[in-house]
Amino acid sequence: MAPPKLAAGNWKMNGTLQSLAELDALPTAPGVEVLICPPALLVQPMAGRAAGRIMVGGQDCHAAASGAHTGDIAAAQLKDAGASHVIVGHSERRSDHGETDAAVMAKAAAAHQAGLVAIICVGETEAQRDSGETLSVIAGQLAASVPDCATAANTVIAYEPVWAIGTGRTPSAAQIAEVHDAMRQALCARFADGAEISLLYGGSVKPANAAEIFAIPHVNGALVGGASLKAADFGPIISALS
Ligand code: G3P
Repeated sequence: MAPPKLAAGNWKMNGTLQSLAELDALPTAPGVEVLICPPALLVQPMAGRAAGRIMVGGQDCHAAASGAHTGDIAAAQLKDAGASHVIVGHSERRSDHGETDAAVMAKAAAAHQAGLVAIICVGETEAQRDSGETLSVIAGQLAASVPDCATAANTVIAYEPVWAIGTGRTPSAAQIAEVHDAMRQALCARFADGAEISLLYGGSVKPANAAEIFAIPHVNGALVGGASLKAADFGPIISALS
């Protein structure tokens, strides 16, 4: 079975209740799953408003099921609020909060335990790319951040080069293809259904470059930041994936 096509939006720390109106203008496209990961406070109202048309996810979860972790959110609480997915290991979490590969793996396992799909993010810095380390960095992050309980049903991998996030710069099609091909090989070597795990590209995806990116082998969708905030931008990206 081919990996599912997924257009995922990451609203990061943007949006208010008023922003939910953007959902009403989003198109659906045949064969394309649409997901938005808003700030945690908006997960429940978004799930209500999206009414099954659009899936809703969290942007992070704690590795523990519950307990004394002030300010954190458990995967089961996201699920309870209507989420189906949760992003773990985004580079902004890795850099702002010092999250290690081991922490990301624990969060992904907690997501699986709670019945959520974990979107596990990997990506090299500009310095790592410049020094020719991209493929080894990605291989290392995959090995150390993706738990053994991963399957095509509970896991999505997002390749987000750190230097492409919010910068308007994207890797060339050949560079994206090289990383996605390497990720596919690594997943197939480790998991029985590795060929069916959805692989997203993320980093400055816009309506203008979406079709070219979606034509790259082993790119099964996108994790979109800035361009997911407005239906006028995210809509054409969803349509380009179908
Ligand atoms: O998670 C999505 C992301 O980090 C990419 O952000 O704004 O470059 O699309 P952006």
